[in-house]
Amino acid sequence: MLVLSLFPGIDLLGRAFEAEGYCVVRGPDPLFGGDIREFTPVPDRFDGIIGGSPCQDFSRLRRCPPTGLGLELLGEFVRCVEEARPRWFLLENVPGVPDIRPYGYQVQRFDLRANECGLGQQRLRHFQFGSNEGLALMLIRNERRPVTEECATASEFSRVGRRSWAEFCAAQGMPPDFELPALTQAERYRAVGNGVPIPMGRFVARAILNAVPTELVRLCICGCGRPVVGKQQAATPACRKRMERRRNTPPVTELE
Ligand SMILES: C[S@@+](CC[C@H](N)C(=O)[O-])C[C@H]1O[C@@H](n2cnc3c(N)ncnc32)[C@H](O)[C@@H]1O
Ligand SMILES: [Zn+2]
Repeated sequence: MLVLSLFPGIDLLGRAFEAEGYCVVRGPDPLFGGDIREFTPVPDRFDGIIGGSPCQDFSRLRRCPPTGLGLELLGEFVRCVEEARPRWFLLENVPGVPDIRPYGYQVQRFDLRANECGLGQQRLRHFQFGSNEGLALMLIRNERRPVTEECATASEFSRVGRRSWAEFCAAQGMPPDFELPALTQAERYRAVGNGVPIPMGRFVARAILNAVPTELVRLCICGCGRPVVGKQQAATPACRKRMERRRNTPPVTELE
């Protein structure tokens, strides 16, 4: 599978896909002097497009009003998907990110916590998986591991009592001796904290390899990827609540 990774940064997400056997090529990032707004992907070459656009505008931890850049760059992700026309895409972001609907794709939105993927932290990420072949992800989640450490975030460097570099890398599933010699220490922490934890990326990458046709397997209507049986529509009480919340939320969050 050939995958284009957008907004790569140091690309923990792309590294997780590589660990599952994908071939990943990386798009532009200001970290290396690039800008997605000046990038045109090749059409009909990629199996998949992955990416986590900047999330500050959608984050609950934001202290100032949104700049508009979050929506603009999300729109760039949609543009690249529509121009490259991959078989599938995966967008990763924070829970407050709007829904995206690239033309021609059916989209499944789900969340995942790091401790559902074997880590000791419980950082929550939202994913939107789109397929133009009617595929969906069946996600057989592990039981949540007890939380033994703080969430890894991009602001770790300025946190009182921050973890050592080796501990922080390990919290994200990276080798403790991982090096980024071209970056300052603050930039290194930001780059690793911005990334998708490796075991989480691998979990989703495996699910994409095993994506199922929606007409053959019945999955929970909330998008979580849990299989349902018989007359069941939602897999768990939490799924039912999630659907209720969505029904009661005006659809202002969809990206136009
Ligand atoms: C959330 S991080 C991505 C982390 C990455 N997915 C990972 O797992 O390591 C968002 C990235 O978007 C990049 N970015 C910001 N503005 C951009 C632009 N105009 N064009 C391309 N990338 C941009 C940032 O530099 C940052 O590396
Ligand atoms: Zn569900």
